[in-house]
Amino acid sequence: MVAVKKVKQSTSLKKQQYIGNEFETLKKLAHPNIVKLIDLYHDNSHFYYITELCPGNNLLEDIMKGKKFSEPDLKIIIKQLFQAINYCHLHQICHRDIKPDNIVLVNNNEVKLIDFGTACKCNEEMTVARGTLMYMAPELLEKKRYDEKCDIWAIGIVMYTMITGVFPYREPKKLLKEQIVGRAIDWEALNNAKDVSSQCIEFILQLL
Ligand SMILES: Nc1ncnc2c1ncn2[C@@H]1O[C@H](COP(=O)(O)OP(=O)(O)OP(=O)(O)O)[C@@H](O)[C@H]1O
Ligand SMILES: [Mg+2]
Repeated sequence: MVAVKKVKQSTSLKKQQYIGNEFETLKKLAHPNIVKLIDLYHDNSHFYYITELCPGNNLLEDIMKGKKFSEPDLKIIIKQLFQAINYCHLHQICHRDIKPDNIVLVNNNEVKLIDFGTACKCNEEMTVARGTLMYMAPELLEKKRYDEKCDIWAIGIVMYTMITGVFPYREPKKLLKEQIVGRAIDWEALNNAKDVSSQCIEFILQLL
């Protein structure tokens, strides 16, 4: 069985580039924790990505349902995510949109990283912020040149939400950019989380 992602064709050159980008990027990758691309079709109105089917919830669905991840489960999931991202970086690809909705869990704990629409070659066009604001590293918003380490920051935010069930910033959303740049992370919520070792918190501290 396969999955089909249907994307409306756009007259915008920029959007067309992103569609081609996802296809070209996924074509180069073959890793057990990255969704496998099978083919790409199009008609007059849409593109159709054919990928392997990854049956299971995405991580956001689990977090929204209030699922609490035990530390052993967290370890199993995050290790696979790092293996996928390490593989991407070794192939000079930065994902740039690591977030729970782009991580599918097959059989509850087998990671499949999906959605390479925002990916880019490392060291190319890495001056314009792309991705999802909540998971963006501060350097993306500081209008500086950034690198593939932005994926590592995003994994830190993913781990934080898996443990606490909430996002790490407390001020209203309109102040989100300022909070990210100011690294205004609510460490107390993480420290107060139940059944999380100090080594695990220390590890997240190193990612963020
Ligand atoms: N191969 C797959 N097998 C099973 N479910 C999938 C697969 N690909 C995507 N999904 C599900 O569909 C959702 C949306 O997929 P995806 O992230 O690729 O699209 P998108 O976010 O709409 O894309 P974009 O951000 O590029 O507009 C995912 O969060 C996941 O739940
Ligand atoms: Mg997505």
